[in-house]
Amino acid sequence: MSSGQETIPQATRNRAAELRVLLEHHGERYHVLDDPEISDAEYDRLFRELVDLESEFPGVQTPDSPTQRVGGAPLDSFTKVRHRTQMLSLGNAFSADEVEAFFRRAERGAGRVDAYVCELKIDGLALSLSYRNGALVRAATRGNGVEGEDVTSNVRTVRSVPMQLRTVSAKLPVEFDVRGEVYQPKRRFAAFNAQLEEAGKQTYANPRSAAAGGVRQLDPAITAKRGLSTFMYQLEPPAGARTQAEVLDLLETLGFTVNPHRHVAGSLDEVLAYIEHWAQRRHDLDYETDGVVIKVASLALQEELGKVSRSPRWAIAYKFPPEEVQTEVLDIAIQVGRTGAVTPVAHLTPVLVAGSTVRRATLHNEDEVARKDVRIGDTVLLHKAGDVIPEVIRPVMDKRPAGAVPWVMPERCPACDSGLVREAGEVVRRCLNPLCPAQRRERLRHFASRAGMNIEGLGEAVIDQLVDAGFVADAADLYHVTVDQLLTLDGFAQRSAEKLQQSIAARTSVPLTRLINALGMPHVGEHTAALLAQHFGTIDALAGASVEELNAVGGVGPVVAQNVARWFEAGEGGELVRRLQAAGVSAERVQGSRDGPWRGQSWVLTGTLEQLTRPEAEERIRGLAGSPGSSVSKRTHTVVAGGSPGSKLARAEELGVRVIDERGFLDELAAAGG
Ligand code: IVH
Repeated sequence: MSSGQETIPQATRNRAAELRVLLEHHGERYHVLDDPEISDAEYDRLFRELVDLESEFPGVQTPDSPTQRVGGAPLDSFTKVRHRTQMLSLGNAFSADEVEAFFRRAERGAGRVDAYVCELKIDGLALSLSYRNGALVRAATRGNGVEGEDVTSNVRTVRSVPMQLRTVSAKLPVEFDVRGEVYQPKRRFAAFNAQLEEAGKQTYANPRSAAAGGVRQLDPAITAKRGLSTFMYQLEPPAGARTQAEVLDLLETLGFTVNPHRHVAGSLDEVLAYIEHWAQRRHDLDYETDGVVIKVASLALQEELGKVSRSPRWAIAYKFPPEEVQTEVLDIAIQVGRTGAVTPVAHLTPVLVAGSTVRRATLHNEDEVARKDVRIGDTVLLHKAGDVIPEVIRPVMDKRPAGAVPWVMPERCPACDSGLVREAGEVVRRCLNPLCPAQRRERLRHFASRAGMNIEGLGEAVIDQLVDAGFVADAADLYHVTVDQLLTLDGFAQRSAEKLQQSIAARTSVPLTRLINALGMPHVGEHTAALLAQHFGTIDALAGASVEELNAVGGVGPVVAQNVARWFEAGEGGELVRRLQAAGVSAERVQGSRDGPWRGQSWVLTGTLEQLTRPEAEERIRGLAGSPGSSVSKRTHTVVAGGSPGSKLARAEELGVRVIDERGFLDELAAAGG
């Protein structure tokens, strides 16, 4: 074996070191600064080169190598580690009065307090990162505050955590700790849970448990796929910083992601205004925040104030009131998904919660309904899991009507009457009849939807009419619908019928990612569709791929590989693709190279767009080689502000970043040829 240090040529060692520095630099440009300097393809080439060097000469691999970010070997269990200094927790305040009482206590203990730093309380998992000579050497969970679990290999897969600091302040000791939260963005959470549900697995209650589950994985490769991110807020020791605001600035300079919404307040009123502002706006953020942390700004005063038991006297966590409401369960209906998964759904008296009106909430599966004992007629407590997914917490027992009976899962599919099957290891029941009209309807809806082929005018109601009339059974049939057929349906006149037929015909040539997603294979959503499109380039190449070839695609696991291969083989998939092609549907080949007029530009979208979906807008930006970003920094090229834009707009204005509206965006896309 060539793993001995002495057998590695010096040139190889130098190149490996150089590649590590380059990859770390470009990784940071992409993931932390949101401002890449090289194309994804170039990055992949450099990455590949390092992987190859390391596999040829295992001795050149270092624990902080960027290749370790994709997850190293699985562990058997976690080892316990002792924190260098205790990780404290915070006292809570639930009202303005309690915040005021905290102010009084602080000022009694410290004399005059000139400034407080307000930060969002991130609802994630507390982490402590230890650095030695600028390199990440250990990551640990909080545990009981004194001792936590060593989750280093997992945390190495989190892109926003620097493995090697880009600068090291002169005042930093050789060894120091950085603390903060690791979290799963809301959008990732929603997509991840939808995937789990479709796969018949148990879903996570909120992004915090999904993040915790992600960090506490024995196999780091699983952590790598959870899309976790971090916000850091504490430096131990603080290395010359005099205030909490300086700590945050220093952390940012060192290369950590720091939440952009901190605010230095001089008075109680200012703190309360900050709380009020975020109580209203928190639903616009892509991460969950459950409150505001108020900290005495001066570190000298913090020292003076000290702590009582395990909480500092210089900080408090104001908790937003839980957004829970009561409403009635009108019905528990069965919904059949496009892959046959059957879910009980509570139909509710409409109610406003966390910023939108909720009419329905999934009850996930029969075990969940039984565990919560939700019955038709019950008044239930409702909230939004992860601020996005409406969820029934529990019935309000005092209000249960006499005669309400436990709910039982039907044995047969409500749409096609075939027996529902619960396979070993799954929590869902499935209708296994591929001809089931409910599944067909869902597949058609998915095909025509904005995330699918985006066929204008072909909404759920029209699809129902087409299926009921027997004109359409699958997606390929849509392309053969005639104006005369449409004229027989309720609500259609000559003009509207022609218009719909034209809009269906207009969607024959689409990007490959879109077509793959629209086909609705089990386990394949937008993200996997993009990976498959990038890898295979054409639908025929994908259709012809073996399980092994599918499994070899980065980011595609064995379950997905098997399902995709089976879908094409099983007749209905391959046949559907052939019939779609015969009807003129074709996918534009995916280009490997990423060159274009917007190369190196980071574009951030905020608010709702009228003309495009988010994924579409992002696809168009990528099509011009720009990169769609998720957070605004000084290096952001342009912010596109749609309707009711979020805090990103304020941030852009604060930083003087260029802002345009949707109209301007569409014009610039057109001008750039996108
Ligand atoms: S400061 C000694 N700042 O909330 C001070 N904590 O309820 C330590 N948290 O254990 C905490 N966002 O995990 C601080 N901006 C923030 C925070 C934050 C979330 C968490 C942290 C802490 C818990 C206390």
